[in-house]
Amino acid sequence: MNTHKHHTWAEPYKIKMVELLRMTTREERLEAIRNAGYNTFLTRSRDVYIDLLTDSGTSAMSDRQWAGLMLGDEAYSGSENFYHLEQAVQEYYGYKYLVPTHQGRGAEHLMSQILIKDGDHVPGNMYFTTTRLHQELAGGKFVDVIVDEAHDPQSEFPFKGNVDLDKLDALVRDVGADRVPYISLEGNVNMAGGQPFSMANLRELHAYCDEHDIPIMLDATRTIENAWFIREREDGYADTPVRDILREICDMTDGCTMSAKKDALVNIGGFFCCNDDEVFRKAQNLVVVYEGLHTYGGLAGRDMEAMAQGIREAVTEEHMAARIGQVRYLGRRLMAAGIPIVRPIGSHAIFIDARRFLPHIDQDDYPAQTLAAELFIEAGVRTMERGNVSAGRSPVTGENRRPQLELVRLTIPRRVYTQAHMDVVVEAVTDVYERRAEIRGLRMVYEPEYLRFFQARFEPL
Ligand code: F0G
Repeated sequence: MNTHKHHTWAEPYKIKMVELLRMTTREERLEAIRNAGYNTFLTRSRDVYIDLLTDSGTSAMSDRQWAGLMLGDEAYSGSENFYHLEQAVQEYYGYKYLVPTHQGRGAEHLMSQILIKDGDHVPGNMYFTTTRLHQELAGGKFVDVIVDEAHDPQSEFPFKGNVDLDKLDALVRDVGADRVPYISLEGNVNMAGGQPFSMANLRELHAYCDEHDIPIMLDATRTIENAWFIREREDGYADTPVRDILREICDMTDGCTMSAKKDALVNIGGFFCCNDDEVFRKAQNLVVVYEGLHTYGGLAGRDMEAMAQGIREAVTEEHMAARIGQVRYLGRRLMAAGIPIVRPIGSHAIFIDARRFLPHIDQDDYPAQTLAAELFIEAGVRTMERGNVSAGRSPVTGENRRPQLELVRLTIPRRVYTQAHMDVVVEAVTDVYERRAEIRGLRMVYEPEYLRFFQARFEPL
């Protein structure tokens, strides 16, 4: 660790290569968003100035990761890079078995097909879009058991990712523990605003699940970031290294799915892990059907090498300090400007509360989708809707789910943008806020069957 005591979040790296950006005019951006059906997912990267669509696969790799690409062993079977990855995962996450997949949803697919039986109930600390869909496709029903505070964007509760044990117990009593194949536990809950669970909560959950013989399957996607928050906020962890907290979390769970495109600092990759011999045997077999042989799972050898190195860099204190520090810098500036955002500030993104930003727009006129389009028009800042469009329709009523959280996510890629870029974002949001009274909602004119937010098209009202 750097022994020089400094109080800013300054980056523990310097820039060796840059990617040039194209600057656009407002007219060009207006045309671009119209062509994209007012859906930021359908805009072209060349039209974007600051890309806060996602922190997924958008990290800048280090020189060591790039060097690792040259060490790619592209053998069909038994690639050396698989064993490097296995070693890194076993060391830092601690699970016995690893099955690589092309990305997180590949792992979710395998796990759901193996563990869920038709009519099962799968509790989780809030849904994630792909996770829930794979549970449903496997015949399961997702049941939200996150604490109430998670649904309140103004609550300052420090562990909004916690599981409400009473909600879990109510489900188990209602359907019986044998209809609950596992609980899905996400670190730094994405849809709640990047909010952590506490170790105390996990300990209680672990005791409960032990008693009822229910496995805990971790969504490890942003769990290193969760570990950072535990160290910062939870009694007894101030001097515990992030890597030890990560191990403590994983040791209380039975397996995980991972989108390595986030915490692990790579542009593509994921994995499934477990400790159970039988589940591993099934996953190793199923991965061959959908992803590739069990020693590459849809990845090139070089991707696995970059991932192994990315994991080692991600668990360092200095990386996490800069990562969380930059997100907080943006959040605090937006709060100072009076912009309604989800509190406390999470790890991977700032979430603007579109209900309070555009209170005059009904939720079925998609305020968050509208605001995301306006930020793109204003300054070429690309963000993502996380509200009524993302939540989709209830399979029971067919109506929009109208979730309590109607948010626009400003997601910060790791190691990519500067403090000056963050200042531009603040200016863009503030300028849109000043003209918010003139902004009208959107009407959906095309709705795809699955995960509609990716490809839906809209027109202004
Ligand atoms: N779990 C969580 C918590 C995620 O945030 C994601 C992806 C996945 C699973 C699926 O992983 O994309 O590698 O297949 N989140 C991205 C995002 C898409 O922008 O939040 P994947």
